[in-house]
Amino acid sequence: MEPDVHEPERALSGPSRPALEGLSHVTAAIDVDAPLVGAARMIAPTTERLARIHRQQIERDRWPDFAAFDPGRYEPALRRDAARQWGARARAEHGSVHQFSAVTRALCEARVGIELLGALSRLITDEVRHVELCARMALACHPEGPQDDPQLFRWPVPRAPWPAAPGPDTQLDLLAWAASAILIACCIGETISRPMLEGVVLVTTDPIAEAVSRQILRDEHLHAAFGWDALALLLPALDEPRRAHVQATLTDALGGFEDTATGGHLIESIAGRELVLTRGAPNLGTLTSEQYAFIFYATLEQEVLPAIEALGLDARRAWAERPRG
Ligand SMILES: [Fe+2]
Ligand SMILES: [Fe+2]
Repeated sequence: MEPDVHEPERALSGPSRPALEGLSHVTAAIDVDAPLVGAARMIAPTTERLARIHRQQIERDRWPDFAAFDPGRYEPALRRDAARQWGARARAEHGSVHQFSAVTRALCEARVGIELLGALSRLITDEVRHVELCARMALACHPEGPQDDPQLFRWPVPRAPWPAAPGPDTQLDLLAWAASAILIACCIGETISRPMLEGVVLVTTDPIAEAVSRQILRDEHLHAAFGWDALALLLPALDEPRRAHVQATLTDALGGFEDTATGGHLIESIAGRELVLTRGAPNLGTLTSEQYAFIFYATLEQEVLPAIEALGLDARRAWAERPRG
C-alpha cells in the first residue's frame, strides 16, 4: 500500500499532539510578589518535566550530597562567611549565563560557524550547573540564612560588564563586540577563575565544598580554552579600527577586573611576596581578599597578558594604561 504522505501532518494537527498531552505538574509557582529575590527562589522547583530535563543536562558528574553537610561541625561565623562567598559565586555564575547567552545571540546574528555556537552552548549549560552548585553550597553552609539574614542571599538582576550588542545587520561590528565580550568573560575571567578555584580546592577541609569546587574547576578549564580559540578565530576578521576598539575595551576591562578581584590590595603591596596555600584550619571553600589578589596578579602576569600578546593585541600597553582606583 502507498504510504499516506499526509499522515504525519494530520497526526501533528490532531488533538493527540504529544506536546499537549500530560502537561507536567507545576511544582511551585513563581512568586512575583516576594519582597526580595534570593538564592532559594533561584533553585526552587518549577515543573516536574523541566526538573527532569534540567537534571539530565547538569548532572554530568556525581551531584554532591548537600544533605550530608553537617552545619553543626562548624562555627556560625565560619559558615556565614562561607555562605557569603558561595552566594557571591552563585551570582557571578548566573552573570556568566547572562553574558554567554548575549554572546550566543550576537554570534548567531553574525552567522559564524555552528561549531562556535555548539561549544558556547556547552558553556551556558555549565554555568547553569555552577549557579546551582554554588547556591546550594551557600544555603547548606547557612541554612538559617534565608530566614535570619535574607540580604546575604539577595539576588539582583545581572548586568553585563559591556554595552549592548550592535544591531543584527552589522556583521563586522557584531564580530568585534563578540571578540571584546569573549576576551573579557572567557580569556580574562575564566582564565583567572581557574587558579582561584584551584586555591579553593587546596584550602577547603570539607568534602562537599571540595566536591563542588572540583566540579566547577573542571569546566572552567574548558571555558578558558574556548575563549582563547574563539578569540583567535574572531580577531583576524576585524579591520584596524575595530581591533583598536577591542584594544581599548581590554584596557578598561583590566582596570575593572583589578578593581573587583583584588579587594583593594595593590600590586605594589604584594609584589615580591610569595603565596602559600595550605589545608589546615576548618575551611568551607573560602579565600581571603589578599589571597584572591595574589592569584589575580600572578595569573594575569604569567598567563593572561602573554596569551593576549600572542594573539596580536598589546596587552602590556593595555595593562600600563588601565584605569586605576
Ligand atoms: Fe562558571
Ligand atoms: Fe565558566
